Amino acid sequence: MQPLQFSNKTRNNKMHIPSLGLALVLLISLASPASSCTQHEKNSLLQFLAELSQDGGLAASWRNNTDCCKWEGITCRKDMTVTEILLPSKGLQGKISQSLGILTGLQYLDLSHNSLSGGLPLELVPSSSIIFLDVSFNQLNGTLHELSSSTPARPLQVLNISSNLFAGQFPSTTWKAMENLIALNASNNSFTGHIPTHFCSSSPSLAVLNLCLNKFSGNIPKQLGDCPKLRELRAGYNNISGEVPDELFNATLLEYLSFPKKYLNGAINDAHLPNLRNLVTLDLGGNIFSGKIPDSIGQLKKLEEFHMDNNNMSGELPYALSNCTNLRIIDLKTNNFSGQLNKVNFSSLPNLKILDLLYNSFSGTIPESIYSCSNLTALRLSSNHLDGQLSPRIGDLKYLTFL
Ligand SMILES: *[C@@H]1O[C@H](CO)[C@@H](O)[C@H](O)[C@H]1NC(C)=O
Ligand SMILES: *[C@@H]1O[C@H](CO)[C@@H](O)[C@H](O)[C@H]1NC(C)=O
Ligand SMILES: *[C@@H]1O[C@H](CO)[C@@H](O)[C@H](O)[C@H]1NC(C)=O
Ligand SMILES: *[C@@H]1O[C@H](CO)[C@@H](O)[C@H](O)[C@H]1NC(C)=O
Ligand SMILES: *[C@@H]1O[C@H](CO)[C@@H](O)[C@H](O)[C@H]1NC(C)=O
Ligand SMILES: *[C@@H]1O[C@H](CO)[C@@H](O)[C@H](O)[C@H]1NC(C)=O
Ligand SMILES: *[C@@H]1O[C@H](CO)[C@@H](O)[C@H](O)[C@H]1NC(C)=O
Ligand SMILES: *[C@@H]1O[C@H](CO)[C@@H](O)[C@H](O)[C@H]1NC(C)=O
Ligand SMILES: *[C@@H]1O[C@H](CO)[C@@H](O)[C@H](O)[C@H]1NC(C)=O
Ligand SMILES: *[C@@H]1O[C@H](CO)[C@@H](O)[C@H](O)[C@H]1NC(C)=O
Ligand SMILES: *[C@@H]1O[C@H](CO)[C@@H](O)[C@H](O)[C@H]1NC(C)=O
Ligand SMILES: *[C@@H]1O[C@H](CO)[C@@H](O)[C@H](O)[C@H]1NC(C)=O
Repeated sequence: MQPLQFSNKTRNNKMHIPSLGLALVLLISLASPASSCTQHEKNSLLQFLAELSQDGGLAASWRNNTDCCKWEGITCRKDMTVTEILLPSKGLQGKISQSLGILTGLQYLDLSHNSLSGGLPLELVPSSSIIFLDVSFNQLNGTLHELSSSTPARPLQVLNISSNLFAGQFPSTTWKAMENLIALNASNNSFTGHIPTHFCSSSPSLAVLNLCLNKFSGNIPKQLGDCPKLRELRAGYNNISGEVPDELFNATLLEYLSFPKKYLNGAINDAHLPNLRNLVTLDLGGNIFSGKIPDSIGQLKKLEEFHMDNNNMSGELPYALSNCTNLRIIDLKTNNFSGQLNKVNFSSLPNLKILDLLYNSFSGTIPESIYSCSNLTALRLSSNHLDGQLSPRIGDLKYLTFL
């Protein structure tokens, strides 16, 4: 604050002095730390630039004789400390320089959608200033370092390292220091190990956890049920097995629960399912769930996508499904469902776009109510025991491109 007031004063003064004096004052204010970034921070950025093998044209504005607060992608606060480096999709190649670690006021670092390689500098995740770190969609490799459990609380809120080449054991104690973490996206890497159990005892604000497309093994930890703010949990395409723990149904704010393509088994808990009344997407496809679709699904009023394909489910479709009036996708293909389809009143599902019931044992006729789902684009009923003809009302389905 103080240097800022000083420079305001200098500017006020210069109104009253002749032009020679004005030039002098301008010179002084150029040299003053309050009117441009420090040479120290500038050198750190120039070092970052020097370690890139392809700078996407940055060098045109990143020149040593200009104020780095005015460089492309750089933002400073009023005291001219660099706070943001936002360089997504700039075609950058080469390494991320460790020198970024000396920018003590850096809060936002976005290098997503480039072709950066090598490791993520050790200083960045445990930085005492960074709040938002997004290096997703690059070719970064190596491991994510484990921090000692005595590391003090860090300000990091968003960490997006998805779609890189990171590998090795996923850290566990590191998260203890991340008390402010809101979103962690580590999807599409090659991490191994178990899903850490204590995310929310240390990061009570965690709302987004995306670990899909990795090599995690073990079970879904029951402690994830203690995440009071969790909205999005995705961990499909790993090597995770076992049942969905009852405790997970305590995470009542969940909107996206996605565990496709794993070895999960058991039945869907009829009694606990209604706790997840905020669910928008329920994706449990490609597992070995058995039993019926519980009647309590009718209480998931916000449900838009229901993927239960490629499991071992059986029984009839419950009438209660007619209650989920926001459903857009119902994918139940390759299971052992049976019974008549007209149990469900499809007229009450006006938003339905995809209904896939391929490879089941449904019988009876195709219910007339299906023809009122005027937004259907895909309807797949083959490889069942359905009989009767399609009604001429099929013509009502104007958008149908796949039958
Ligand atoms: C930028 O300029 C400063 C001071 O003039 C000098 O010390 C530094 O080495 C220069 N940096 C580069 C990368 O040229
Ligand atoms: C990371 O990739 C670089 C090439 O970009 C390679 O030289 C290095 O050995 C890799 N490191 C690890 C830990 O795989
Ligand atoms: C990375 O994840 C964060 C948090 O979910 C999100 O805000 C950001 O947009 C993501 N970045 C990209 C490039 O998708
Ligand atoms: C996480 O990353 C994946 C793939 O990179 C992306 O599709 C997804 O939108 C991201 N999720 C969030 C919440 O940022
Ligand atoms: C996974 O990451 C690779 C490499 O960054 C990328 O090419 C691919 O599109 C990503 N896949 C998904 C599903 O995001
Ligand atoms: C998958 O997990 C099981 C045990 O949970 C383990 O025996 C197996 O080796 C794992 N497979 C891979 C490819 O990691
Ligand atoms: C969480 O779930 C378990 C098992 O369903 C239950 O016994 C427990 O009371 C729940 N805890 C809270 C705080 O709701
Ligand atoms: C359908 O929704 C109503 C409230 O809109 C609710 O009272 C009823 O229990 C639901 N039926 C089922 C089978 O879930
Ligand atoms: C499939 O479900 C049936 C009962 O519905 C059960 O007897 C069978 O063991 C299940 N198969 C697997 C692989 O879980
Ligand atoms: C499918 O369910 C029927 C009973 O409805 C049962 O007789 C049959 O064994 C089941 N098939 C499989 C593959 O589980
Ligand atoms: C089916 O749902 C529609 C729209 O909600 C309603 O008008 C109709 O009475 C229902 N039919 C039956 C048989 O419940
Ligand atoms: C059909 O979809 C369009 C946009 O995709 C939407 O505006 C419209 O409300 C939908 N119609 C019904 C009956 O839901």
